[in-house]
Amino acid sequence: MNRNVSILGILASMFLVTLSQPRGVSRFYASNSSDEAETKILAVLDEMVKAHETYLSVPVKDGRALRLLTEATGARYVVEIGTSTGYSGLWLCLALQKTDGRLTTFEIDHQRATMAREHFKEAGVEKMVIVIEGDAHEQVAKLKGPIDIAFVDADKGGYVDYLNKLLPLVKPGGLILAHNVDMVPDYVKAVTTSRDLETILYMEGGGLAVTLKKR
Ligand SMILES: C[S@@+](CC[C@H](N)C(=O)[O-])C[C@H]1O[C@@H](n2cnc3c(N)ncnc32)[C@H](O)[C@@H]1O
Repeated sequence: MNRNVSILGILASMFLVTLSQPRGVSRFYASNSSDEAETKILAVLDEMVKAHETYLSVPVKDGRALRLLTEATGARYVVEIGTSTGYSGLWLCLALQKTDGRLTTFEIDHQRATMAREHFKEAGVEKMVIVIEGDAHEQVAKLKGPIDIAFVDADKGGYVDYLNKLLPLVKPGGLILAHNVDMVPDYVKAVTTSRDLETILYMEGGGLAVTLKKR
């Protein structure tokens, strides 16, 4: 009885805290974090949004999902296709600074790649991130596995090609994530019809396919 009452109390205070936080992106963040590195990254994420320094970036719900999946699986090597200005990359870094991991991220646009490098530096994660400029369709051929998580968020017509190139490098038990699934029916077909893959669609944000490489 007492235990039930205290659990109810915790849930009620969580609800009240959520309601009392300001509107906007920052209310989604772990504002009571005592982890210095995490606080620094979250601050840069917040600033990027306020300063309009994002470009076609994932919504916060998907950023949180990227972080959660990376951290919960203990991923240490993540590859991202489509850096833009580094927003999703920083969400991944929130996890990678905990798992002692690293991120290799690809961007074709020089200005966005430059801005991403600046954001990674501001957030203090530049040592764990490599930004590779150029056409990722060609550049990924230079990658070596095993990759723990691959995240695809670039040219929509290229998703199946990225899948075919990255899948052999992803470790069995690793994940392939793809953003904006509504825009890539051929990719969704490929990841939902293979016996070697298990896929769920997380549609709370911009639509994220989460695919497990089973073997
Ligand atoms: C949707 S945005 C990525 C958003 C980023 N993941 C985020 O959430 O902050 C797509 C990015 O992919 C890049 N891109 C498009 N085609 C590419 C290619 N062939 N190789 C590398 N990057 C590419 C674009 O320049 C653009 O910056």
